[in-house]
This record gives sequence, C-alpha cells and structure tokens, in this order.
Amino acid sequence: MGRRVGAVIVTSWGTVAELAGGVLIAVIVVMVVSEGKVTGKPLLRMVYTMLSPVLAANDPARRWDDVCALLDLDSARSLLDIGCGGGGLLSCALAAAGGLRVTGVDWSAAVAGRVRRRLVPHGRFRLLVADVARGLPFEDCAFDRVASFGVLPGLRNWRFVLEEMHRVLAPGGRLILGGGNVFLWPLDEDQAFAAAAMLGFELQRRVRLAHHGEVWLFEKM
Ligand SMILES: C[S@@+](CC[C@H](N)C(=O)[O-])C[C@H]1O[C@@H](n2cnc3c(N)ncnc32)[C@H](O)[C@@H]1O
Repeated sequence: MGRRVGAVIVTSWGTVAELAGGVLIAVIVVMVVSEGKVTGKPLLRMVYTMLSPVLAANDPARRWDDVCALLDLDSARSLLDIGCGGGGLLSCALAAAGGLRVTGVDWSAAVAGRVRRRLVPHGRFRLLVADVARGLPFEDCAFDRVASFGVLPGLRNWRFVLEEMHRVLAPGGRLILGGGNVFLWPLDEDQAFAAAAMLGFELQRRVRLAHHGEVWLFEKM
C-alpha cells in the first residue's frame, strides 16, 4: 500500500514536471511568435539570451556550407548576417573566403559575446548589438552579401526591415533569407515576394537545404 502511494506521488511529480516543461515551452513559443507583444521585448530578448548557449552549441560552421555556396562568397567583399545567433554562418564564411569582411548584428549582448569569442581566432569581423526592427545601423550599399535566418518571419514590421536590407545591399548584391534553426515559421510567401519585387529584388533561387529548410536567394537589381 505504502509503495503504491509512493509510486503515485512519484508519478504525480513526474507529471507536474512534464506539465511545467510544456507550459514553459508554450510561453516561449508565444513570446517569440508574438515578437514580445504579449510579454514585452526585454523578456523576449532575455529568452534569446538564455538560448544563446543552445544556439552556439547547435551551430557547427559546416551546417552553413551550402548557404556559403549559394552566396558565392569568392566574388564577395562583405557579408552582413542579421540575427547572427550562434555565429555559424559568419565563421563558415570566414573560413570559406579569405579577405571577406564579415559583420554580425544581434539584439542580445550575450549572443554577440558568444559569437565574438567564436570568431576571435579568425581575426577580422565586426559585431553590433542592435534591434533590427528599428533599422539597420549601416550606410547605404555597405555590403554585397546580406543573410538573415530565423529573424524576418518573426518581425511585425518585416517589410521595413526588408527595405533596410535592400538599402544596405550594393546593386548586384545577394540577399539570402531562411527560417532559422530554432523556430521555423514561414512568411506569407506571396506578400514577401511581392514586397521584394517592389523594392527591386529579383528572386534567383528557391531551394530546400538539409539544415535550413526552404531558403530564398535574391539579387538586388
Ligand atoms: C531563431 S535565432 C536564429 C539564429 C541564426 N540566424 C541561425 O539561423 O542559427 C534568431 C536570432 O535573431 C536574434 N534576433 C531576434 N529578433 C531580433 C531583433 N529584433 N533584432 C536583432 N536580433 C534579433 C536573436 O537574438 C537570435 O540570435
């Protein structure tokens, strides 16, 4: 009898822990998908900060090989990664193309700190901490490659940020967009392609990559 009661208590604690874990995951998903509307941006930024070790740990540079190939980095001089997360794309790009200037921007100082530690052995990079929903803190035509994975679909004002991507990209430059590694949700593709075309982006490729799902490659006309 005593054993059975003990078993019931153990099962209940197990159930409580599972429920609490489920609720926590649901809260984090709501926070990210609502872009902090429900809980506020500082809390959302805190979630990304908490996730930064996970982002860094799950982000080996080789996961980005196919993205680097699509970007044709041999003919590029500069790359900007918007929402650079674990820094995998930046370190892959540095290894793939000698002489490339890489820049990452992320709104979490902790994420940027981890990326900095990761890139230090490579020597040449720039990292900025900024909320890209307020605009990109760069000159017009400053880059000839721009990448963003797992950021744009979560932004309410994604059209403005797309416009900003167009502004900082040099004519003939390439833009690559994807869902990202943690939360995958699509932009409304008709709206996104129409907005991109209005800005003067031409869709070059639309491919499904093993580690990134569908990605879109545009060229600035
Ligand atoms: C889903 S993760 C993707 C990380 C990385 N691009 C990848 O695919 O592995 C989104 C990243 O964008 C950053 N981020 C989200 N919203 C942002 C914003 N408004 N401004 C700047 N960075 C943002 C987060 O801190 C996080 O590092």
